[in-house]
Amino acid sequence: IRVAVLYGGKSGEHEVSLKSGASVVRHLDRDRFELIPVSIDKQGRWQRQDPKRLAEWNAESLPIHADAPEIRLSADGTGGLQVAALDGTAADGGIDVVFPVIHGPLCEDGAVQGLLELSGAAYVGSGVLASAIGMHKDIAKRLAALAGLPVAPYVTVARREFQRDPAAVGTAAQAKLTLPVFIKPCNMGSSVGVHKVKRWEDLDAALVDAFRYDTRVLIEQGIDAREVEVAVLDGDPPFVSVASELNAHPKHEFYSYEAKYIDQDGATVDLPAKLQPAQMERVRELAKTAFLALECSGLARVDFFLDRQSGEFYFNEINTLPGFTAISMYPKMMEASGMAYRDLITRLIELALE
Ligand code: DAL
Ligand code: MG
Repeated sequence: IRVAVLYGGKSGEHEVSLKSGASVVRHLDRDRFELIPVSIDKQGRWQRQDPKRLAEWNAESLPIHADAPEIRLSADGTGGLQVAALDGTAADGGIDVVFPVIHGPLCEDGAVQGLLELSGAAYVGSGVLASAIGMHKDIAKRLAALAGLPVAPYVTVARREFQRDPAAVGTAAQAKLTLPVFIKPCNMGSSVGVHKVKRWEDLDAALVDAFRYDTRVLIEQGIDAREVEVAVLDGDPPFVSVASELNAHPKHEFYSYEAKYIDQDGATVDLPAKLQPAQMERVRELAKTAFLALECSGLARVDFFLDRQSGEFYFNEINTLPGFTAISMYPKMMEASGMAYRDLITRLIELALE
């Protein structure tokens, strides 16, 4: 079975994907699967990489060799990846399934999934709809709320609205929310463009930065909460992991990009999370509900806030292509729940081929 592992991508999470790709490749069962590494560079160019040049498959990040042959996805419904030869003719790249290990806009938001649908390729993970919903923090919260999941208060603001009347945006936020608040681009991951605002006079600057990444931004109620995550693997019923808890180091104001990926001790993990049994059951149930309500397939990591005062869980977001880096929680939670990394990758590929 030939598996094209897609990595890189034209998003702010490009570097995270290089690391995720490295872990997936390392845990791919080489007796069963033939690896076809396909990189997407920051300009959006797809290239077929030589598996022999992946630094023995042990690198922390996958490389993108700029001289690798370019790839075209044919939209003929046959599922073929075509490698464009130098003379302009196409050589069949023959693949059976694509494993998109890419994060963020144009990667995780249904765009690539749509391309793969058109090409007829089988692929790991959610389809166009769930991918698009999961990437959009506002739409995802609305649907989660409709499914009965508690969601913390927030408002959204469009870039145009903000540019027209920033003061009105501040007034609207202050009418509904109290400090601190979190500013988040609607369509982003890994906390790129996220700010914690502790004084209303800092709101504008945070919004200006968040609008670099998206045309719609959330202003969320900051709650004194613990961060709890759950991994879900597709099945009937879905397999739901034990929950984990992330504790950002106090030197970080929140679980930021830096705390996640740059700072070696930016965060510590409790796996399983130190929860009362009833709380553990509740958050796992909520994760399953979110997975089903948002029409996910394959896999998803569902992130919650556990309010320290009320003890209630709030749905934060769902990640349809969660990180697979060496420190990422999705594979770790699965491992802690009895599913070894290698078996997990195998199962995800099998699900894509079902
Ligand atoms: N967006 C990152 C990769 C995550 O959710 O793990
Ligand atoms: Mg995320």
